[in-house]
Amino acid sequence: MVIAGDGLSHLLPSAREIAALPADERLNRLPLHHWIGYPAAQAAVAKLEGMIAQPPALRPANLLIVGPSNNGKTMIAERCRRLHPARTSVDGEHQVIPVLVMQMPPAPSARRFYSALLAALGAPLWANGSMDLREQMTCRIMRKVGVRLLIIDELHNILAGRPGQVRECQNLLRFLGNELRIPIAGLGTKEAYLAIRSDDQLENRFEPFLLPRWTDGAELARLLMSFEAILPLKEPSNLASPELRTPILQRSEGTIGEMSALLVAATRAALERGCERIDLDLLAAADYLPPTERRRQFEASLQ
Ligand SMILES: Nc1ncnc2c1ncn2[C@@H]1O[C@H](COP(=O)(O)OP(=O)(O)O)[C@@H](O)[C@H]1O
Ligand SMILES: [Mg+2]
Repeated sequence: MVIAGDGLSHLLPSAREIAALPADERLNRLPLHHWIGYPAAQAAVAKLEGMIAQPPALRPANLLIVGPSNNGKTMIAERCRRLHPARTSVDGEHQVIPVLVMQMPPAPSARRFYSALLAALGAPLWANGSMDLREQMTCRIMRKVGVRLLIIDELHNILAGRPGQVRECQNLLRFLGNELRIPIAGLGTKEAYLAIRSDDQLENRFEPFLLPRWTDGAELARLLMSFEAILPLKEPSNLASPELRTPILQRSEGTIGEMSALLVAATRAALERGCERIDLDLLAAADYLPPTERRRQFEASLQ
């Protein structure tokens, strides 16, 4: 039980409980799994909610969430899925899956696309089934389970295909939209945008939504305060101060995933040293390498 006035007012109530535990137990609770509703993420979730609420239209509006990797795209999809969880139908007869999340396979083809979609639906796969059969089964199941929004993560994988496969996947996206009349949200890096833009009809149907790298400013300061409120340290670190904000932004290279990894590593270092807040020394001591440095070391190890 944590009592008010215990000096933990910089923390969210859930984090206060954890901050009161001994350091070794706190170490076991890392990394963090806590949704931070920063403005761009909230706006993206609101867009997806709007798409779910929209009545079945002749031509549903689609969305393309574009941003660098490790910048919160999958978290947005997960958030949306959690707000509309799968359930059993009222008559208890079948599953209802309002938000279906699938991943574009790394080596895309229509066949693998349908396999991924059927797997996301929890449907059995027919290894030898013809394409027509897969297509029919997929559409039938999607109607039955009442999918209101199809989210395709890692959409940039489309461009990993040969030209024929790229076209095949683009046709498929158009077909699904037309056939099922449900909105589709694609998530991916800028290659996802290129994959959509190279097809005129798709380009018109997907509204781009950018999730850019973070830059310095008031929003970054607020994000760092949100992180500070969930890191289980007893004293405030003042991560939003320019003194800490600048190195955090620089080392993480501006994605939320890297900032999170750096801050978790710094929290680990603090707890291991018996410190209750993050300072410049701990940021430097954290077991964390910036992405560029990681890549450099990896490539050097290949020589
Ligand atoms: N809204 C958020 N709140 C808190 N942490 C987040 C949020 N979005 C992303 N993160 C952190 O960033 C990491 C990478 O996010 P993810 O959604 O997997 O990125 P992407 O799909 O763009 O590659 C997550 O594992 C999490 O640690
Ligand atoms: Mg992702």
